Amino acid sequence: MQQNAVQGNFRRPIESARHAAGLSTPGNRTRGLREEQATRSGRRSGRPRGHGPIQAMDAGHPQALRVSILVRAVGNRRGVRVRLSPTAPQGANPRPKGAKAWSGGRRGGPHARFVHVFLTSGEGLAYEFAAQRYERMRYRRCGRSGLLLPAISLGAWETFGGYRGEDVARECLFRAFDLGITHFDLANNYGRPPGNAEAVVGRILGEMPRDELIISTKAGYRMWPGPYGEWLSKKYLVSSLDQSLRRLQLDYVDIFYAHRPDPETPLEETMEALDLIVRQGKALYVGVSNFSGVQFAAAQQVVVRRGLAPITIHQPYYNMLGRRAETDLFPHAERAGTGVICYCPLAQGELTDKYLGDALPPDSRAALWRGKRTLDEAVPPERRSKLRALHELARARGQSLAQMALAWVLRLPAVTSALIGASRVEHVEENIRTLEHLDFSQDELDRIEAILRR
Ligand SMILES: NC(=O)c1ccc[n+]([C@@H]2O[C@H](COP(=O)([O-])OP(=O)(O)OC[C@H]3O[C@@H](n4cnc5c(N)ncnc54)[C@H](OP(=O)(O)O)[C@@H]3O)[C@@H](O)[C@H]2O)c1
Repeated sequence: MQQNAVQGNFRRPIESARHAAGLSTPGNRTRGLREEQATRSGRRSGRPRGHGPIQAMDAGHPQALRVSILVRAVGNRRGVRVRLSPTAPQGANPRPKGAKAWSGGRRGGPHARFVHVFLTSGEGLAYEFAAQRYERMRYRRCGRSGLLLPAISLGAWETFGGYRGEDVARECLFRAFDLGITHFDLANNYGRPPGNAEAVVGRILGEMPRDELIISTKAGYRMWPGPYGEWLSKKYLVSSLDQSLRRLQLDYVDIFYAHRPDPETPLEETMEALDLIVRQGKALYVGVSNFSGVQFAAAQQVVVRRGLAPITIHQPYYNMLGRRAETDLFPHAERAGTGVICYCPLAQGELTDKYLGDALPPDSRAALWRGKRTLDEAVPPERRSKLRALHELARARGQSLAQMALAWVLRLPAVTSALIGASRVEHVEENIRTLEHLDFSQDELDRIEAILRR
């Protein structure tokens, strides 16, 4: 039986961090503990009994981590936030670089107080990630850039902070990372209310090694009222990314996308805004999403002509049931040396065995999120007959339908990564096993083609 990986690996590091914070029996790790600041109201909180998530990140020092532990006292709503300075013990700089982003202690409530503790590398991580996490995953070059992405990436769209809560999100992200998925995709508007996915995932990312992760976000759809709350003006893109960084609790994202084409804003302004964002250090790479081949080629021309930050990646919709990008976009992307990450490779769950039974699964996205009441309403009968034929073919290959659908997306050299969603950890596990069988015979490809053209 599959062990619950998250719970299984948690305890020891939390205990050591609590020790270091002086929250349990004092030991030699309490050396360096220093109460930095009393509560905003000047009152001191009682000694905490509970503990919350630990956030850790490499702070630049070879042996130091900055750790934030939110500790809530049981019963009286008081809390303590414990921080690790990026300096080694007795370091000259007790206030961490970027400490402002940590100050305020709002999550600890009005009675929060700040404590700096010094931990050596590794001790502060709440979860011990699998040492072999890079052995099974395949990493593919994103176009002609230096960026390597996992063949399978994980997105948060409607799941995390939507119809799945923080516990499921944490379990899926941790398991995914343990299995070599280093790339997690978000957008300003994901989750409910819009932005909640970034807030939920942001809390979890603080428990993960930032430098080993590729985090993306996007802007383009409506986020706030008024003329500056959507589309692709410089005003909107820059403001939206600032908001995303706050929700994600990050200093930068690895990839920032223009989420959809804007029929009115000049492409020059949009591409210059993306370039500005890279020069400001708020994103390392930029990309576009949902641009047609022609729109992408026009954006690419602007970038080349003006010497702007390259379009490193394109994020289109692509799967067995939606193939427009194949002829419309991929040739342009390959010519430009731009990588492609395909979203909805499982057509939001249709290309799995989920809808092959007699009834609509009550815990499916179709039922929970889209409000569908019957199987026919969720997936029309003609499409289900196609899915059943594909399912048979997948079984003959020794795969599930989901695995065959992902392998099929990854068969094209233009495709860097398949961007899946998961509403339970088993989805992540099953989908990653796709990598055990990526090849197709010509006969299999022909049979898939015949089914899809029916
Ligand atoms: N750029 C854009 O405009 C855009 C638009 C949409 C999405 N995206 C990105 O693409 C990501 C993925 O989108 P998506 O969630 O629609 O992708 P998807 O992989 O096509 O669908 C994911 C859904 O399929 C089901 N599923 C996954 N693996 C399964 C398995 N092994 N067995 C059974 N069911 C399985 C689950 O459905 P249930 O939840 O029903 O169980 C899961 O939520 C998003 O999170 C987002 O990052 C981008």
